[in-house]
Amino acid sequence: MTVSRIAAQQGSVLRELRTASLREAPYAFGETLEDALLVEPSYFDETAALHASSEKLATFLLYTEGHPCGLVHAYIEDAPHARAFVSALWVAPAVRHLRGGELLVNVASQWLAGQGAAEVHAWIADENRTGMRFYERLGFGPTGDRRAMPSHEEEVESLYVRHMLSERHA
Ligand SMILES: CC(C)(COP(=O)(O)OP(=O)(O)OC[C@H]1O[C@@H](n2cnc3c(N)ncnc32)[C@H](O)[C@@H]1OP(=O)(O)O)[C@@H](O)C(=O)NCCC(=O)NCCS
Repeated sequence: MTVSRIAAQQGSVLRELRTASLREAPYAFGETLEDALLVEPSYFDETAALHASSEKLATFLLYTEGHPCGLVHAYIEDAPHARAFVSALWVAPAVRHLRGGELLVNVASQWLAGQGAAEVHAWIADENRTGMRFYERLGFGPTGDRRAMPSHEEEVESLYVRHMLSERHA
C-alpha cells in the first residue's frame, strides 16, 4: 500500500472516496451522505486543486495495486494559535487491518509537522469505538474536549491529540 498527496485533477476520485466513506461509516463523520451528494461535483474539483497545493490543507490518498482505497484530510486551522488536525479518515473495508489507516495518519501527521505543527488533533465520535482504539494505538490521547457532532447534533465527539515530538508514534 502506498499513500500520496491528492493531485489537482483528482476531484472525481475525492468525490468517490468521500461518498463511499459516508455511505459505509455514517456514524464516524460530522457530515452526511446527503450533504456530500447535494454539493456540485465542481466543489470536489476545487477541493482537490486546493488540497494538492495549499500550505494549510491537504488530502492524502491510500492506494493498493494502483486503486484508490482510502483517504485522510490534514489541515491547519485559520486562527491565532492555529491547531493542526487530521479528519475524514477512511479505509475501504476490503483492505482494513493492513496498516493502511496507520500509514495515512502518519503521512498526514508528518506533513503537518513539516508545516510547523507540534501536535496533531482528531475529533472522534464517542460511539466509534474502533476509531478510538485505532487512534489510541497510534499514540493519540483524549484532551477532555467534547462537543455535539456537526450534522448529528444528538451524538457527541471527543478531541484527541498526539504530540509529534514524542517518540510514541514512531
Ligand atoms: C479506523 C480505520 C481508518 C482503520 O483503518 P485500518 O487500515 O484498518 O487501520 P490499521 O490496519 O492501520 O489499524 C487497525 C487497528 O485499528 C483498530 N481497529 C481497526 N478496525 C477495528 C475493528 N473493526 N475492531 C476493533 N479495532 C479495530 C485496531 O487497533 C487495529 O489493529 P489490528 O489490525 O492489529 O487489530 C478503518 O477501520 C475505517 O475506515 N473505519 C471507518 C471510518 C472511521 O471510523 N474513521 C475514523 C474516523 S475518526
